[in-house]
Amino acid sequence: NLVPMADILKDAYTNGYGVGGFNINNMEFLQGIIWAAEEENSPLILQASEGAIKYIGMDYVIAMVDAATKNTHIPVALHLDHGSSFEVAMDCIRKGFSSVMIDGSHHPFEENIAIVKEVVRAAHSVGVTVEAELGKLGGTEDDITVEEKDAAMTDPAEAAEFVERTGVDCLAVSVGTAHGVYKGDPEIDYERLEKINNQVDIPLVLHGASGVPDEDVAKAITFGVSKVNVNTDFQQAFTGRVKEVFAEKPELFDPRKYCGPGREAITAKVKEKIAMLGSAGQA
Ligand code: G3H
Ligand code: 13P
Ligand code: ZN
Ligand code: NA
Repeated sequence: NLVPMADILKDAYTNGYGVGGFNINNMEFLQGIIWAAEEENSPLILQASEGAIKYIGMDYVIAMVDAATKNTHIPVALHLDHGSSFEVAMDCIRKGFSSVMIDGSHHPFEENIAIVKEVVRAAHSVGVTVEAELGKLGGTEDDITVEEKDAAMTDPAEAAEFVERTGVDCLAVSVGTAHGVYKGDPEIDYERLEKINNQVDIPLVLHGASGVPDEDVAKAITFGVSKVNVNTDFQQAFTGRVKEVFAEKPELFDPRKYCGPGREAITAKVKEKIAMLGSAGQA
């Protein structure tokens, strides 16, 4: 039983809290995440990347999320993370996703607008939410100059035009975060984020939030960020716990005996993120 992501974000945006866009990698991630959100009474955005859908299988994604949300009391959206084409977005919508991201950020401005408009038209006709991205997120391994970094960040005036012309529901922005593990501490350009927020009247999305200090995320939320994406921190929580289990008992072979603790570690980490976002009790 899924709700459109726009409904979840509208409440968050109006009331000044953030909602996690939490990536599922397998069944343990899905369970670890939704159990934490239920215990904290938090709305939840479950998201699957194209890579995760390929790994799990589309039918399994749908069936597992269906099972996970059957008797839930919290609002849950199922969202495609970083959709790369109109076709992929449509496939997810047909299968039952309640939200899709169409990531045209690597295309030139006009092409990005064109592809997002097309997805928005189709998605909105069936009540599905759309996220788009403007500006390029840094890769943490990229060795780029300060000027290149600045050029890749979201331009506030362009963001206003982009939102106006596409009719998109929420916008992922590049303001200093990067996917994956940071080398140093990330530096969020709050001045830029504030300008974007002043020019754009829809919820903003912060990608690459793993490794970003809690107080930085909290500050970003005061500038219109309503969706905060986390994947790497949960991968590290899960795998770190599994490694601990094996360090203690190298003779183990029953996957339930190490995936179970890994799943518990995800639940604990999700609860930390929900506290950071202020979404506890908002379901
Ligand atoms: O933003 C990307 C997400 O972390 C998904 O990563 O493509 O490795 O599943 P993935
Ligand atoms: P991290 O893996 O850095 O948390 O990024 C997640 C993300 O942005 C998913 O879209
Ligand atoms: Zn992302
Ligand atoms: Na990150």
